[in-house]
Amino acid sequence: MIKNLYDKYCLPKLLDVCCSTKPINYQRNKVVPYAKGVVLEIGIGSGLNLPYYKNLNIEKLYGLDPSEELNEIALINAKNNDIDINFLINGAEEINLPSSSIDTIVITYTLCTISKLKESLSEMKRVLKDDGIMLFCEHGKAPDNNIEIWQNRINPLWGKLFGGCNINRDIPQLVENGGFKIEKLDQMYIPGTPKIVGYNYWGVATN
Ligand SMILES: C[S@@+](CC[C@H](N)C(=O)[O-])C[C@H]1O[C@@H](n2cnc3c(N)ncnc32)[C@H](O)[C@@H]1O
Repeated sequence: MIKNLYDKYCLPKLLDVCCSTKPINYQRNKVVPYAKGVVLEIGIGSGLNLPYYKNLNIEKLYGLDPSEELNEIALINAKNNDIDINFLINGAEEINLPSSSIDTIVITYTLCTISKLKESLSEMKRVLKDDGIMLFCEHGKAPDNNIEIWQNRINPLWGKLFGGCNINRDIPQLVENGGFKIEKLDQMYIPGTPKIVGYNYWGVATN
């Protein structure tokens, strides 16, 4: 009961605030503007990436997310934006789009939270065109052993507070295990963010 109230009323606002810090928004701007054509954003959440799309390059945007509460915020954010958006209220493990229909998949700060990773990455591969790209920007496993130890310790509690978010996932490994080829990868601790949640991986992967 308390958990349901927390998930419904507190978590969406908490995620919206925590994911819109200056360093995180700076990261968004490193990947989102490269999206083009028919775009699928996985885990669009409250729509925090919307200001970073180059509208002229976007033919159509599908914004997928299972959270109805976050979608309510996204609908408000979408009003300030003239991209043609179609929201899909669903998890990435089942994407209701035709195979090979997407030019760009955008995924930011969401691979940490998806529970059915294998199924979700397989769906993402299915809908992405052969020459399509996946733009990703995620936080994950830190390279320093002392930080990683704390990530592993805190992860179970963190997940309970932040909607199933994992702070210790090996993002590049996970993308490659999903069958994608990483073409470009950058990584660093982002400034002004606790190291256990601040190690970012971003780049481009192909099908
Ligand atoms: C930390 S938030 C990030 C939201 C947004 N991507 C951003 O960059 O601000 C994680 C998001 O993953 C979404 N999510 C959780 N499970 C998912 C799933 N199975 N498929 C797609 N998105 C999922 C959540 O609803 C939430 O919007």
